[in-house]
Amino acid sequence: MNNIVTLDEFIIKRQKDFQYSSGELTGLLRDIGVAAKIVNREVNRAGLVNILGEFGSENASGEKVQKLDVYANEKMIECLQNSGECCGIVSEENENIIVFPKMEGKDSKYMVVLDPLDGSSNIDVNVSVGTIFGIYRRKTKYDTPLTVEDFLQKGSDLVAAGYVSFGTSTILVYTTGKGVNGFTLDPSIGEFCLSHRDIMIPDKGNYYSVNQGYYLKFDVEMRRYIDHCSDLNLRLRYIGSMVSDIHRILFQGGIYLYPKTRKYINGKLRLLYECNPMSFIVEQAGGKAIDGNLERILDKEVTSIHERSSIIIGSPLMVDEMVEFVSRYTNDFMS
Ligand code: AHG
Ligand code: MN
Ligand code: MN
Repeated sequence: MNNIVTLDEFIIKRQKDFQYSSGELTGLLRDIGVAAKIVNREVNRAGLVNILGEFGSENASGEKVQKLDVYANEKMIECLQNSGECCGIVSEENENIIVFPKMEGKDSKYMVVLDPLDGSSNIDVNVSVGTIFGIYRRKTKYDTPLTVEDFLQKGSDLVAAGYVSFGTSTILVYTTGKGVNGFTLDPSIGEFCLSHRDIMIPDKGNYYSVNQGYYLKFDVEMRRYIDHCSDLNLRLRYIGSMVSDIHRILFQGGIYLYPKTRKYINGKLRLLYECNPMSFIVEQAGGKAIDGNLERILDKEVTSIHERSSIIIGSPLMVDEMVEFVSRYTNDFMS
């Protein structure tokens, strides 16, 4: 008798948490688990095959696309389309929404938002990357065509969200709004196995994570807050993959910041498929997530699918302290 709980077993057991559940969300989550294994295989093989390096084109946000981004995107889309549980996707790698044709006998009501590969500049140098996903339920009638507006839901409407961190091991972390659980891929049996049950973020921690290279491009109160972190002798860690940086903070406590800069006046990270899913997970684990205007990320209106946002996310006491610090500094400065 072993004590291993696989991702599939866990998802099925949790289905009863949802009243009137028909198993569609369960099916969708399992398909994402399969897609994660496929992407994992390619991430691991990336050094051996010719899929490293820039693809040559630019993505919808005007950034260079890596070949592995394209591959991960294709595989995720393929798996989600085959599942029949998903009616459409927004992906970082596609300028427009992708609408799946209706499958015979299925009323797919779930939509997926996706950053297929996060931290893609890390790929060529064998450093951690991730995948982020969020699941929404469409609010319009299932027999009408899916439109961009269907995707413009607030983060607080998320039904489920998760990420996969491709690091020293591969870990999938997800929530359906009833706690956060983590599953480590056991390559010997090819299964994600429950390894981190009911994850709770520490109230505070010793880490801060920010691209300090942009220090002079931040607003003055943000600069003062970063000085404060340094004064406190917090340890600076910045991998350059939001998934990997926040993964550390989720487990060890700390604060992650991507503030607005002179180049990215609204922040760089994408609200719909980066900030919202990660904020949902962190809040479910007892943490907090706000933007540079101190507004809760999950309450922000989404006005376009590739919209950017600033973000401050992590241990609750540290986010509170940052708010207090910035408010006090701003008031002092104004008076
Ligand atoms: P992506 O690879 O999906 O485009 O995301 C990169 C993002 C995020 O993951 C990371 O934290 C951030 O960009 C790094 O940006 P800087 O290089 O500006 O610090
Ligand atoms: Mn990203
Ligand atoms: Mn990406």
